[in-house]
Amino acid sequence: MSVSIEKTQQQILKHHGGNGSQARQAIANSYDRRHDDDFWQFWQATVAANHQSSDGIVDMGAGIGQFVRDCALRYPDSVVIGLEAAPYMLEHTVELPNNARFVQDDLNLPQADIAPGSVSMVMANMVVHELTQPIKMFKAAYDWLKPGGRLCVVDVVRQPPVQ
Ligand SMILES: C[S@@+](CC[C@H](N)C(=O)[O-])C[C@H]1O[C@@H](n2cnc3c(N)ncnc32)[C@H](O)[C@@H]1O
Repeated sequence: MSVSIEKTQQQILKHHGGNGSQARQAIANSYDRRHDDDFWQFWQATVAANHQSSDGIVDMGAGIGQFVRDCALRYPDSVVIGLEAAPYMLEHTVELPNNARFVQDDLNLPQADIAPGSVSMVMANMVVHELTQPIKMFKAAYDWLKPGGRLCVVDVVRQPPVQ
């Protein structure tokens, strides 16, 4: 493990209020609400628009792997890779189908061995705001995606208070 991922792990834990198990529970409990029928209709119609059966799929900041698992079940001919840095996520993952796996990687400086142009869909769900520097993550996603492949970013936005 590099020094850089250790530093990132400390930053993630700090971002999670020093309580990894609470953060893990929060994403696990909200997963079904966030990935309802509307979400999957959007995903299939828009993000999967240029997906072909053997294309890879990457989930950046995969948490405990619920989305990795669901993509692997929906796209059984694809290899689905979940990238994650926090040990308290990686040590409590859901059971994954054979066509899915986790890779421990720091998305501030992605180093996962994913072939350029081999992926049709990349997900970044609630992770951009946790990074110190997302530029390299976006660059990596661009490199992994095949022409016509799609990146889906879901994240929080700061809004002015309601008057
Ligand atoms: C709010 S959670 C969202 C998890 C999942 N994407 C979901 O929507 O349920 C953000 C995840 O990104 C991971 N993460 C944050 N910074 C990261 C980094 N630099 N490298 C890899 N993973 C990171 C966190 O550990 C956490 O699991």
